Amino acid sequence: MVDDTPRKTVEELRNIFSLEGKVAVVTGAGGTLGHAIAKGLAVFGADVACWDIKPEFQEDVVADIKALGRKATASGVDVTSDESVKGAMEQVIADFGKVNIMVTVAGSAGNRQPAETFDINEWQKVMNINVRGTMLCAKYAGAEYIKQGDGGKLITIGSVRGFLGHPGGYAAYGTSKGAVHLLTKQLATEWAKYKINCNAIAPSIFWTPLTQQIKNDPEMVKIFMQRIPIGRAAELDDFIGAAVYLSSPASDYVTGVILSVDGGAVAG
Ligand SMILES: NC(=O)c1ccc[n+]([C@@H]2O[C@H](COP(=O)([O-])OP(=O)(O)OC[C@H]3O[C@@H](n4cnc5c(N)ncnc54)[C@H](O)[C@@H]3O)[C@@H](O)[C@H]2O)c1
Repeated sequence: MVDDTPRKTVEELRNIFSLEGKVAVVTGAGGTLGHAIAKGLAVFGADVACWDIKPEFQEDVVADIKALGRKATASGVDVTSDESVKGAMEQVIADFGKVNIMVTVAGSAGNRQPAETFDINEWQKVMNINVRGTMLCAKYAGAEYIKQGDGGKLITIGSVRGFLGHPGGYAAYGTSKGAVHLLTKQLATEWAKYKINCNAIAPSIFWTPLTQQIKNDPEMVKIFMQRIPIGRAAELDDFIGAAVYLSSPASDYVTGVILSVDGGAVAG
């Protein structure tokens, strides 16, 4: 049987990763991965609203995006606060007129501790930033996408720790990232009818303030590297391809996927 569904032209195929004319929100954009992803999306043509609880850290990312000839704004947003996220999304619509891509990078590892003595307030703090924060940003982006009526992209940030336990005190972080993975799949099923693609990127490890505790401990570094078949920590640019792919028309038929960018950590 011949497939007679409409095909893209060669020109359209060449532009399949283009984000020209798209507006992205990147949370945690004042942080390491957030900055890299915000800049990466701008390289492929997106204008970017940068959100972070520490707005003073966002000057660099805004300057980088503007240097690429794209529009960028920075807002102090607490992703755990309904009011803050709602207000920031209203501001994005006021500044850019629309939103097409939401990347929820803001996150915290908290203080890793043995489960039997885990400070439950610390545990809750990690759950609030990673799970409640992801949910609130997804909720307000999703509501806008549905109102706009032409689909949208949600990219959450999971972790190898969302798939696999670890003896190193991950009762909060691992649990939160497992929840982020399932939330992403849940939203994928609910919002497919609105042409909203919901996918996650799941890194293994890269060196940032969030992983400083591990980097300071040579024994832990050795354990982590032994678990990564490619044998090294990720570099920031390793994530750009995945972020652009999941933000672009190239992934229009992909939803509910947890894309591991982890040097093979969950492969075996
Ligand atoms: N570093 C790693 O090895 C690693 C591995 C797997 C997953 N991740 C995930 O990648 C994401 C980015 O982490 P990173 O390593 O770049 O860390 P980072 O500390 O450099 O960046 C995190 C950013 O989130 C912001 N943030 C924290 N709480 C917030 C809040 N309530 N509201 C708004 N912003 C808030 C921080 O200010 C910071 O700028 C996180 O979700 C993290 O869990 C990191």
